[in-house]
Amino acid sequence: EMDGNNADIYPAPMANGGKSWGDAYKKASDIVGQMTVEEKTAIITSAPGRCVGTTQAVERLGIPRLCMMDGPTGPRPVKGISQSTSGQTAAATWDRDLIYQRSKDMGQEFFDLGVNVALAPVASGPIGRSPLGGRNWEGSYPDPYANGQFSRLSVQGLQDSHVAATTKHWIMYEQETFRHPYNTSQPDNIYPLLTQEPVSSNVDDYTTHMLYMPPFAEAIRAGSGHVMCSYNQINGTQACNDAHSQNHLLKTELGFQGSVISDWGGVHDTAASIRSGMDVSTPGVDDVGYSMGTFYKDLDKLVNNGTVAEDRLSDAAIRFLTPYYWLGQDSEHTPPEVTFDAASGLDLESEYKNVRKEGTAELIRKIGTDSTTLLKNTGGLPLNRPQRLVLLGSDIGSNVLGPDGCGDDRTKCPMGNFNGTISVGGGSGSTIPPYVVSPLEAIRERVEKDGTEISYAMKYDEDHINKISSRADATVVFVNNWAEESKDRHNIDLDEEQAMILDAAVKASSNVIIVMHTPGVVNMEKWADNDNVTAIVEAYYPGQETGDAVVPILYGERSPSGKLPFTWGKSLSDYPPNTISTDDSMTPQADFSEGVYIDYRWFDKKEIEPRWEFGFGLSYTTFEFSDISVEENYKKDENEVQATNEPFEGSDGTNSLYDTIKTVKATVTNTGDVEGCEVVQLYVTFPGDNMPVRELRGFEKVKDLKSNESKQVEMDLRLKDLSVWDVERQTWVMPSGEFKLSVGSSSRQLPLHTTCTN
Ligand code: NOJ
Repeated sequence: EMDGNNADIYPAPMANGGKSWGDAYKKASDIVGQMTVEEKTAIITSAPGRCVGTTQAVERLGIPRLCMMDGPTGPRPVKGISQSTSGQTAAATWDRDLIYQRSKDMGQEFFDLGVNVALAPVASGPIGRSPLGGRNWEGSYPDPYANGQFSRLSVQGLQDSHVAATTKHWIMYEQETFRHPYNTSQPDNIYPLLTQEPVSSNVDDYTTHMLYMPPFAEAIRAGSGHVMCSYNQINGTQACNDAHSQNHLLKTELGFQGSVISDWGGVHDTAASIRSGMDVSTPGVDDVGYSMGTFYKDLDKLVNNGTVAEDRLSDAAIRFLTPYYWLGQDSEHTPPEVTFDAASGLDLESEYKNVRKEGTAELIRKIGTDSTTLLKNTGGLPLNRPQRLVLLGSDIGSNVLGPDGCGDDRTKCPMGNFNGTISVGGGSGSTIPPYVVSPLEAIRERVEKDGTEISYAMKYDEDHINKISSRADATVVFVNNWAEESKDRHNIDLDEEQAMILDAAVKASSNVIIVMHTPGVVNMEKWADNDNVTAIVEAYYPGQETGDAVVPILYGERSPSGKLPFTWGKSLSDYPPNTISTDDSMTPQADFSEGVYIDYRWFDKKEIEPRWEFGFGLSYTTFEFSDISVEENYKKDENEVQATNEPFEGSDGTNSLYDTIKTVKATVTNTGDVEGCEVVQLYVTFPGDNMPVRELRGFEKVKDLKSNESKQVEMDLRLKDLSVWDVERQTWVMPSGEFKLSVGSSSRQLPLHTTCTN
């Protein structure tokens, strides 16, 4: 049912605290019970203040203004913080400990800055349906299982530091193009000013459940305090006032007990949004800097005249305050008062508080190193004490304006040429780094050990490149590609100058190593098979430690162990088409007609040979897989903070869709000469037709395995991992028949197989 206005999806479900927020819920409802309509409205209405969003206080009852700050790479926009890696970078480690710790450290910085609510993590919105998506790098994997693991761990990390998470963007927010109406800054806007509605993502119920909802389900189970509704429309209804997705899917089916916070300016109709389950309006009573949206200035009137039920208003306020109490922010974990003013023109120097901790830089560096993904190696890496080393590309150097020169406003930093390495992308997922270690700086420091001479060029100059590279032992070319919020990438091509530098390098040298800092796939077909290219490395967006993160890989001090968190195609046309129709409609239409078949599911189904497949990455050692087995192994799920209400066949009221039902075991052996890590991956082929060729349902990073050492890994399969959504019956069902289980080192290198039958 696509109609977002069905009567049976009203009224919005009232919170009750769920499985473990009972005490916090009670505190919140007691205090809200003492509030007037105006006060309740204040609690759920952001107004201009010190933070990106600042709710209003009810001083009479001791409720302060609560501070909401971006974002997924750290607190923004403010100085004194660490710039972490992008989410996608952390995802490429496939290391649950690092993914968790990244958010934990980040959470501490938020907390020390006086932030109550972090506007992170990015779950399946965007999940990465299109490789052009301008924000894919902020999130993790275009796979519901892996993305769910990432989202769960990220929520846990932030909240273990006593900052509420805001898992975003709910939902089907897969394109930046046309996300806003009436916006002259949108390069793709073909509509006259003040006419166009936000793009509608049109998605069927099966795909919604199988692909887009599971990451949010995991985040909610982990206790995500808040969820942010998105800018797009969902099947023709604005996300923040879509009753079907908010009242039904999120608050009923997933049993969400926290609040839905609007994306900034995402409220288009006050009465409709609050009735449809949105709880908190941002950025402010007066829409600071935004040209769309009506805000809550009329809400008290709407309640007083009966258009909006007062219960609904109370429920919204209770939902927003419950995580505040649950995290102890009113008592033992009150964030300190910091008086920076993020709203007034981003005056970043108004208060400088350094919240960086010892150990965080090292963690960011480690995530960068362990995400670095070796895609080709015919002997170029590791570097072997080169006497003459050439470094090429603008990406080797520092931003000419300094690490904070661009802020998060990349327009100050024209792309290409001398503009330096790209450490993270742009927009609200950006952060202002204390410094960025450039590749040139890091390599310069490392070469002392070998007595190496460095020559370099940051700009294209064929004669110069030819001169230095033809004499060198190795030429390392750093290339990059930019992505930012509010714009989708227009293509997956390297910019012209970088392509020219690469061409010149492979002409001059037979030992060219390419290192890429990109937000996803770039077209490497011109160089990937060239014999003079002896190694290719993807290093994503590594944050402030960029150069230091890649040096241990280049020099063989650590074996590469990152794996692609997306499919690297040969061209854009390898991926599902993501055309947005602008015919006959003031609402651009994006039909997600590929259904669940995005990324590797699409390549597998269409039998398209990728350049490098999902889950792929080489090492300096080799691994062998052996001894696969699967056994019945019932284990109750004990990790969840909140329970979902997802209906499933076989529910007896005590079991859970997230209970383990089987365990797969396999052994991995390091058969090479050096220590290394391997990401053991488990793919499931479901019985029945019309299912993907295979789907990721488990992974385990085996760390620091010595030469000749073996380790057995165990991967639990939960009931949900083996179930499909039955649209007609509106329930999860484990299909009967034979499930094929495959284990290996990537989505296409799966040496071990077994089966189990239901
Ligand atoms: C808009 C972005 O979509 C969202 O992710 C962010 O949190 C808000 N702006 C606030 O900056």
